[in-house]
Order: sequence, then C-alpha cells, then structure tokens
Amino acid sequence: MSVQTSVLVLHGPNLNLLGLREPNIYGRLTLDEVDSLLLVESIALSVEIVTQQSNHEGELIDAIHNSYQKHQGILINAGAYTHTSLAIADALKSVRIPTVEVHLSNIYQREAFRHHSFIAPIAIGQISGFGAQSYCLGLRALVGYLRDNPKL
Ligand code: DQA
Repeated sequence: MSVQTSVLVLHGPNLNLLGLREPNIYGRLTLDEVDSLLLVESIALSVEIVTQQSNHEGELIDAIHNSYQKHQGILINAGAYTHTSLAIADALKSVRIPTVEVHLSNIYQREAFRHHSFIAPIAIGQISGFGAQSYCLGLRALVGYLRDNPKL
C-alpha cells in the first residue's frame, strides 16, 4: 500500500475529556494518548492519519465533507451522535468513503439507547468494547479493506 493512503480519524463529543470522563467505562488514557497509539499503528501499517475531535455535529459533518478526495478512509467514534445523528450518517453516505465505526465501550452491554447506531448501516463494520484498542483494531481493519478493495 502506498504511503499516500490517508485516513481521517474523527472523535466526536466529549471524547476530548478521555482520561477524566467516567474512566471505569472509557479507560484512563487521554485522547492524546489514544492518538499516539493510533500513530504507532499507522506507521506500522504505512498509512497517514489525520485526527480531529469536535463537540459539534456540524463541524463533524464539515470534516466528513472536506475528506472527499482527500482521505481514502474514515475511522469514526461519533460518541453520543452515533445514536442520534442522521445528519452524520447522511454525510458519510454522501462522500462514500469507506468508514469503520469504533467505540471504546461495548455499547451493547450498556443502556438500550446506545444499542442503535445510525452509522452502522453505512459502515464497513464496527468495533466496540476494546477500549483504546478498538481504534487500533478499527484502523487495521479499515486499511485491510482499502488494500483488498483498491479504487479503480
Ligand atoms: C462511545 C459510546 C457512546 O454511547 C457514548 O455516548 C460516547 C462514547 C464509546 O466510545 O464507547 O461518547 O462512543
């Protein structure tokens, strides 16, 4: 795979508070530490990653729009917007960039309102419940998909 392959990593609302926020559920790593783990993984996979966090739905949508013809894949933890945002799902559907959905916690072990994801039907797949490793596993799965499905 060319080193030019670029993946946008999008972190949604409240993920800037990782480390502080409900560590029993989300772990003790900060967002910077999660991004550092991802950087190590990206180097091993020979891909570039660009990471972005926003607490605002519109900013996440803009980031998805801006990724058109810039990034070949999207790795997204949309936080609570996973369960509420048709607009983020529509944005992902519009740009048609292969997307993997990740969650730190196992959303299916938690409250019923977290069991539904608007993103899941348009994602290649979802990884949930492995803490920060969900991101690394997700990146690996996404790069594997991009490698197996090169754009014509
Ligand atoms: C989360 C799960 C969501 O339900 C929650 O709202 C989050 C984080 C996770 O990574 O486990 O903000 O996406």
